[in-house]
Amino acid sequence: MSLLYKHKIEELRQKLRQYEYEYYILNSPTISDVDYDMMMKDLEALEADFPEYYDSTSPTQRVGSDLTSGDRSVAHRFPMLSLSNTYTQGEVGEFYDRIEKEIGDDFCVVAEIKYDGVSISLIYEDGVLTRAVTRGDGIRGDDVTASVRAIRSIPLRLRGEGIPPLLEVRGEILLPWTEFNRINIEREQKGEPLFANPRNAVAGTIKQLSPRIVSERKPDAIFYYLLSDEEGILPHSHFARLEMMKQMGLKVSEHAKLCRSLKEVYEYIDKWEDGRRGLDVATDGIVLKVDDYRLHGQIGFTAKSPKWAIAFKYPAEAAHTRLLSVDFQVGRTGVITPVANLEGVHISGTMVRRASLHNADIIRELDLHIGDMVMVEKGGEIIPKITGVKHDERGAADLLVRVEMPTHCPACGATLVKDEGEAGTYCPNDVSCPPQIVGRIEHFASRKAMDINIGPETISELYERGLVRDVSELYNLTVADIMTLPLFKEKSASKLYDSIQGSKATPFAKVLFAIGIKYVGETVARDLAKKTKSLDHLRAMSEDELTAIDGIGPRIAKSLKDYFSDERHIALLDRLEHHGIQMSVPQNEKDEALGGDTLSGQIIVVSGVFSTIEREALKDLIMTHGGKVGSGVTSKTTLMVIGDNVGPSKLQKAEALGTKIMTEEEFFNTYNLK
Ligand code: IVH
Repeated sequence: MSLLYKHKIEELRQKLRQYEYEYYILNSPTISDVDYDMMMKDLEALEADFPEYYDSTSPTQRVGSDLTSGDRSVAHRFPMLSLSNTYTQGEVGEFYDRIEKEIGDDFCVVAEIKYDGVSISLIYEDGVLTRAVTRGDGIRGDDVTASVRAIRSIPLRLRGEGIPPLLEVRGEILLPWTEFNRINIEREQKGEPLFANPRNAVAGTIKQLSPRIVSERKPDAIFYYLLSDEEGILPHSHFARLEMMKQMGLKVSEHAKLCRSLKEVYEYIDKWEDGRRGLDVATDGIVLKVDDYRLHGQIGFTAKSPKWAIAFKYPAEAAHTRLLSVDFQVGRTGVITPVANLEGVHISGTMVRRASLHNADIIRELDLHIGDMVMVEKGGEIIPKITGVKHDERGAADLLVRVEMPTHCPACGATLVKDEGEAGTYCPNDVSCPPQIVGRIEHFASRKAMDINIGPETISELYERGLVRDVSELYNLTVADIMTLPLFKEKSASKLYDSIQGSKATPFAKVLFAIGIKYVGETVARDLAKKTKSLDHLRAMSEDELTAIDGIGPRIAKSLKDYFSDERHIALLDRLEHHGIQMSVPQNEKDEALGGDTLSGQIIVVSGVFSTIEREALKDLIMTHGGKVGSGVTSKTTLMVIGDNVGPSKLQKAEALGTKIMTEEEFFNTYNLK
């Protein structure tokens, strides 16, 4: 019997690995996400029942426990060299000529894209991923295996037969632009400091050693180097090794090209100068490698880099200019963002006068002084950034003023705080720090929140004149009040008044987002509103109840509890409610969806695959009929609804506890649903 399950488990693992390979490496999925998730859940259930068949390379084992700190520095088996950089086609020509002089003209060069992420070395022993190490200083790096296992495009086990007993692969961990932008938008909504670029975001993500965060942020990886203790077992051709890596299930670039002449190399460089902008990951040049590994020994190495390879860097869209001053802006959640004021300079068609400095760590790294000549770059990101300082052009350094993060809030004077391990510096005075208040009103009024048609200047005016000191006071404004502002006439004042009054109809989910509770972005607000239906209910929930909601982790739960434990916040919410703002889902909407309270008081667990309804839809149906959905069978479970392939552990537990069990058909008939 148990062998049967062993077989089943192995079969599911094989299938899931195959689907992952098709999805991540071949870019051609053959199964829907829902089916994939379902199969994964089935495997999880079986593995929970048969722990004796544990396998660290099972597709279920990506997000394991967090690694705790300790000495994580480990030595590389082979030093991780860097590449010497070239910046002109002339230098590329010199590289080519040098190789030709050394070994004659019978050689090929592999041209590859140079990906701009975090380099990583993976060790596979007997085909199993055993270690992932960052570059570090090239000799020693940090062990980041726990994080790397959570990257879905990295195989935990290599595919195919005859895998050499020990392989080292090197590549780049990358965060696609789409993910980078998504994360930064979310961070902005939550008032968290933004990542400067995808590389920083990836580095920060990998270093944290939290597989959960890694899997949320969805980094990718591309591999470009394969080594072994016994080089003899590997193909001599680098190009063939790239193909071999792909066969083994590792993602390699689809854009590598075997070039047989310098002309072909130049064509490749030209093609990708613009072409790289169409890629979804950051790149900063191309890499050229002599294809035949047997020639490498002959060509040799310098202390830092191989002579058989070079990088060619495309000119960054950058310019030098002078740093005039630095402003420290206070955001709506109190985050302090340093912004550089620059002598105007043209970069790729636009005049740049301001650039982000992001946070205190970056300022310190740059050792920035007012008056410095700085390098400003406009990358794929929207905001230009300062990437370097021309230290040699600095006058007598002691005469210059060093840029430092303030210790006190530039707006309200409160002592700033910096959380250990976080890059951001915050002003803790959320109650009376003016830019925080104005920022919160702007957020409240914004399109995705209450959608009030009001600009930031008007909000600032209203605040400065003492007409609106918190979001609830918007609703006290009369047309006459608004007309006291410059630029407002009766018609425009009435329009604003109507827009404010009209916003009272905004649904509860948006109100919850508009209030601006830390970490409660749009999606979280929507989930919370859907599950709790009212502010009163939400307020009354414990942290445990909150974390039981899908998508709500301990950090959000704590932030909610902190928010609601502040009297001033409660008073504000009362005032808003008094003005007629929606603090719950309207009764008629509830009724419509509910169709009664048939399942009230029930705690129902659903398990398996259903034939007439999707599992998530079934859960929603239970909730809208007043029932609660439990994630696991406990003594409190009143009913279990089962479909096909039901998790055996849940079933056994339900039987042992004497829980009522129904098929989907029995369930629908008994409660007269749908
Ligand atoms: S080959 C000995 N290939 O660039 C050869 N490196 O400046 C080792 N990089 O540390 C590197 N894309 O992080 C190689 N296609 C590519 C690359 C690449 C990006 C990075 C890598 C390396 C750095 C060297």
